[in-house]
Amino acid sequence: MLYIGVDLGTSAVKLLLMDEKGVIHKVVTKEYPLSFPHPGWSEQDPEDWYDRTMEGLKELIAGEDAARIAGMSFGGQMHGLVILDADDRVIRPAILWNDGRTTKETDYLNNTIGRDRLSGYTANIAFAGFTAPKILWVKNNEPENFARIRKIMLPKDYLCYRLTGVFSTDLSDASGMLLLDVKNRTWSQEMLDICGVKKEQLPRLFESYEKVGTLKPEIAEALGLGSVTVAAGAGDNAAAAVGTGTVGDNMCNISLGTSGTIFISSEQFRVDSHNALHSFDHADGHYHLMGCMLSAASCNKWWMDDILKTKDYAQEQKAIEKLGENHVFFLPYLMGERSPWNDPGARATFTGMTMDTTRADMTQAVLEGVAFATRDMYEVARSLGIRLERTKICGGGAKSPLWRKMIANILNIRVDVPANEQGPGMGGAMLAMVACGEYASVEEAAAAIVRVERTEEPDPELSAKYEEKYRQFRLLYPAMKPVFDKLS
Ligand code: XUL
Repeated sequence: MLYIGVDLGTSAVKLLLMDEKGVIHKVVTKEYPLSFPHPGWSEQDPEDWYDRTMEGLKELIAGEDAARIAGMSFGGQMHGLVILDADDRVIRPAILWNDGRTTKETDYLNNTIGRDRLSGYTANIAFAGFTAPKILWVKNNEPENFARIRKIMLPKDYLCYRLTGVFSTDLSDASGMLLLDVKNRTWSQEMLDICGVKKEQLPRLFESYEKVGTLKPEIAEALGLGSVTVAAGAGDNAAAAVGTGTVGDNMCNISLGTSGTIFISSEQFRVDSHNALHSFDHADGHYHLMGCMLSAASCNKWWMDDILKTKDYAQEQKAIEKLGENHVFFLPYLMGERSPWNDPGARATFTGMTMDTTRADMTQAVLEGVAFATRDMYEVARSLGIRLERTKICGGGAKSPLWRKMIANILNIRVDVPANEQGPGMGGAMLAMVACGEYASVEEAAAAIVRVERTEEPDPELSAKYEEKYRQFRLLYPAMKPVFDKLS
């Protein structure tokens, strides 16, 4: 049978069609705009997500045997706030995961309500991009919109609602709302009260691999499909983790996408006592810890596309020769930073340039800055006693062999590169397979489908050089923090 995975990303929706053995039949990508109406704000029109997904679905299944398409599911950009009125109309543009407008609301939650209470209710504290501070922002700044809210949902759940008519979410994505009691896998009444939200306004909770419904008959007909099972799906990081086989206990996945994440699966519920790592439910029915930096591959994209005005990323990277010896540093905080600093006012900076600094040195600093910031999150995991010998890697940035080498040596860890890695869409398709009974569990699907193609081994000499550089990198944010505070 065939399964559709929908990766509802920040710059595009990527759809794939895969069989139960993991063979990809087709991939279709449809881009949509992202708007920054104020510095640090980030919004999208949910209508674009739906329209581009429908166009993509038509292309994806053209020429395929529709009768073989059994299931579909999603991996979606997390934390985005989508609000619908009594007529199911979208009230305002979605406020996205990398939006930094909620400083006041985040401070209120963390300092007035208090971190300990938040962590007790949800296993997490407030970060600017999480959904609950955004709900409070709408309440404080757009009271007329707040009063009209009948349904609150996450980006991929909006798609699912339009396609199936079922108002649902899954536990991995719901974890990032700061409204979920992650440990007990249920809404937190305390958090709902704090945010002025009623349970009826929230979607029904499902495990990621559970069936929520089928495509609406009119949509199935428009697409020329039969009865297609739709599974709840997952937040994009949990879905990507499924797609790289990061399931079960103590497995790690690093994603170098628009955001950068380190994702550690766990069979036991646990919380970072400083809450620098998020403690979320996983799409395999268990838990995970995750650090998220807001700008990862997007730093390189910004540097290449907007500043150097080139599309030939590989050519720029060819000129980089002296690994571990660069004296230029880059702080990758183009959208502020989430993990580990929780500082929407942080900004990107280059430092250390001299008259002999080259274009290649600065490109290298951008790639290294993202890898050093990944190491910052990895250090938090190590401080919790987590020991990892290897990690998987995924996302657009992971296609660069040079960047993978930097990650392996800066973290001093083996980096396994999965064959046929397709990010959250692949995880989405695998979740649909479980919902359709093709596999008994997410772990079983991962064991059957995911294969490691090659491993990047750290080189002791290079790792030692990078250790020294990382120590220097660590000086920069604390030194710049008072300046960032003054500038914002
Ligand atoms: C995770 C996060 C990002 C988005 C990207 O907490 O905010 O990784 O999910 O789509």
